[in-house]
Amino acid sequence: MSYQVKEVKTKPYDGQKPGTSGLRKRVKVFQQEHYTENFVQAIFDAVDLNGKTIVIGGDGRFFSPETVQTILKIGSANGVAKFIVGKDSILSTPAASNVIRKYKADGGILLTASHNPGGPNADFGIKYNVSNGGPAPENVTNKIFEKTKTISSYKVIELAPIDLSKKGFFTYGPSNVEIIDSVSDYVQLLESIFDFPLIKNFLQSHADSFKVLFDGMHGVTGPYGRAIFIDALGLPETSVQNAVPLPDFGGGHPDPNLTYAHELVERVERENIHFGAASDGDGDRNMIYGKGAFVTPSDSVAIIADWAAEAIPYFKKGGVKGLARSMPTSAQIDKVAKKKGLECAVVPTGWKFFGNLMDAGRLSICGEESFGTGSDHIREKDGVWAVVAWLNILAYANQQSPNELIGIKELLEKHYAVYGRSFFSRYDYEEVPAVGAQSLVDAINVHISTGSLASTSHVSKSTGQKFTVAGVTNFDYTDPIDGSISRNQGQIVTFDDGSRVVFRLSGTGSQGATVRMYVERYVPASAGPAELNKDAQEGLKGLIEVALQLSNLPEFLGREKPTVIT
Ligand code: G1P
Ligand code: ZN
Repeated sequence: MSYQVKEVKTKPYDGQKPGTSGLRKRVKVFQQEHYTENFVQAIFDAVDLNGKTIVIGGDGRFFSPETVQTILKIGSANGVAKFIVGKDSILSTPAASNVIRKYKADGGILLTASHNPGGPNADFGIKYNVSNGGPAPENVTNKIFEKTKTISSYKVIELAPIDLSKKGFFTYGPSNVEIIDSVSDYVQLLESIFDFPLIKNFLQSHADSFKVLFDGMHGVTGPYGRAIFIDALGLPETSVQNAVPLPDFGGGHPDPNLTYAHELVERVERENIHFGAASDGDGDRNMIYGKGAFVTPSDSVAIIADWAAEAIPYFKKGGVKGLARSMPTSAQIDKVAKKKGLECAVVPTGWKFFGNLMDAGRLSICGEESFGTGSDHIREKDGVWAVVAWLNILAYANQQSPNELIGIKELLEKHYAVYGRSFFSRYDYEEVPAVGAQSLVDAINVHISTGSLASTSHVSKSTGQKFTVAGVTNFDYTDPIDGSISRNQGQIVTFDDGSRVVFRLSGTGSQGATVRMYVERYVPASAGPAELNKDAQEGLKGLIEVALQLSNLPEFLGREKPTVIT
């Protein structure tokens, strides 16, 4: 096949700075002339991939197939030796991380805006992952951003588009292209981690007393869910829903939380389903929800960490090397780490911060309050992994206690009875004016530098609880492996009863600013079941009121109520 490398003149676009997880913008922004090409060329300018192998995949959202062809054209012109591409441009984020590792690729480009809505008027995203399978660290994303500021041309090889719907080996100019099955490597991986026979046996022997429902939210996990829950674990067809990936996610917001996964929540409650679960657009987030029992992601990772070494073959064999959480995540997992004598690292928000610890053999299980849970089997959080981890743990717990049926609720209550409970909730104020958000941050910074909030007491009008401020700080992080420093990763107000409130600006929004407020209050096991098993919003009511009052958040943002509460 004859080919020619062509150089196309371009000009830099402002604002191509990758955020918490890649570059995310409206589709219309990516569709501007040269916009996507500039960013893709900037990746190849920042990272030398000449003669290397890269993986391409994504959540299948609108504008993905076109972008795969753009990457082939530009990547090939920049000397990429081999592209491994998910069939139909689909690879969930965890599956892509696995493919990069398994095939020893040098990196990967993932086309996803995660849980953000898709379609011509919604969001698109491009994210670069490095050879360990994880999101590129900040020194790489900063370099990509620098390249976008000075770009003056990009290279292409113009050939007929590759048919992405056919598996197999192809050539594209000087490069090789392998189109792989999107699902099979990932299913094999999970089968090597979990006790599938135990889970299958439990599900079959409890077909009536333990019903399961998995919701793919029309994101990428539908085919993965079908392969695992129906084909491998033998559950009926009705146990998966919204399992066909759609370019616009069926018009929904594919984010597994109580607000956006309401279809799952309603069916679980109506049909008395014991185990419900959902995953997001690109398959790295998860929500676990059984009838009358919502598992906060902070509790979820603590419970997985608590049971892993006993119940899950991967950890039974390799041990649990250490635990970690993002800073805003509750300290429930810290309690488990303490009891088990494990290190529990606290890193800034964003999965990329876990990678170094995993590569150094210091971290096995970690999580973020934002419905992210995972382990060192890959370098991304993994929604379906977390769901199967829960099924594995429940199957094991029931095998240990054959005389009672242990469901989600029972497992949570048993956990709180041992470790106490960190009540946790997050309030999101989405797409607020950037000026208001900045004023809020500035005002808290004034408290930090002057100490003006320290020792002040605040009483909740509705509960009468009194909270006295112990301190206000900015969270800065030094990576223990490479020494890199990340500053201003959230503002923390701590109270003298150990409660805390964190304020943070989102780094993934595609428009305006999003403010997140994280609220946490610990209740020891000695408080007894009546206190421990309360509804989270009830357990946090007084603290939330105080947090809003002392920060003046509603005034700064011009919002009485958050857009999403999780
Ligand atoms: C959000 C979450 C964060 C997660 C990221 C990518 O980022 O808060 O925990 O890692 O999405 O899924 P944020 O918008 O808060 O910057
Ligand atoms: Zn995601």
